[in-house]
Amino acid sequence: MDSKVDNLPSQADQKLQQEFNEWAAAGRGDEMESHHSDITEQTLALMDIQPGDRILDLGCGTGWASRRMARIATTGEVVGLDVADEMLRRAEQSSSAFRNVRYAWGSAENIPEADNAFNKVLSVESFYYYADQGKALDELRRVMAPGAKLFILINLYKDNHYSLRWVTELKVPVQALSEAEYKALLAKHGFTNVEARRIPDRSPTPETYSGKWFKNAEELRDFKKIGALLLIAEKPH
Ligand SMILES: C[S@@+](CC[C@H](N)C(=O)[O-])C[C@H]1O[C@@H](n2cnc3c(N)ncnc32)[C@H](O)[C@@H]1O
Repeated sequence: MDSKVDNLPSQADQKLQQEFNEWAAAGRGDEMESHHSDITEQTLALMDIQPGDRILDLGCGTGWASRRMARIATTGEVVGLDVADEMLRRAEQSSSAFRNVRYAWGSAENIPEADNAFNKVLSVESFYYYADQGKALDELRRVMAPGAKLFILINLYKDNHYSLRWVTELKVPVQALSEAEYKALLAKHGFTNVEARRIPDRSPTPETYSGKWFKNAEELRDFKKIGALLLIAEKPH
């Protein structure tokens, strides 16, 4: 098949692009930095980022995590990939001072990067949106170098019952798998040393909660205490 035709975004990706472009226009891309900051910092510590690392930030949004990683990876490179071009426009605007960050438009299911290009991958709050998570894992395995490590951080998964409220409320379809199902999926798609950790969100919770996802601040505190699911896996040598 003509590669140009092959690279056209699927209907599911077009829907995600439209939805997240709207999020970006409404300023929700920047808001996510404060919402995901604490759980991401804990993950960055586990990633043990070194100067020279080549890192993919999959579903990078406005690129705040890409920039945090680029500050440490100095002589390496961080590539932020996202399906929403409006997110990337904002990411680029905020990254002009960085020489080791690059942004690419594309889908997790069709990553426009070379084979074996990265030695670390981070994906924050993005993986459950992918219509075909198995295809995304096959693509990740292709662009990861042998021995490279994958870190997938998600707040929406079956074992945190509060997060299941989002499934019917979000305007785009999402996948709600359990920790055990994710571990099996990673193994099925050729990853080794698969492990799962819980990352509690230690950021302060206001005394009163006025948003739409929780009944009160107590529920929000409990949601944060259950924590995000961090999946860690390796591409075999
Ligand atoms: C909830 S936001 C998180 C963004 C960023 N990681 C953060 O924590 O601020 C989810 C991001 O994943 C991106 N995304 C969703 N589906 C995608 C796909 N199939 N391929 C690439 N990016 C995708 C969205 O465009 C959006 O920017």
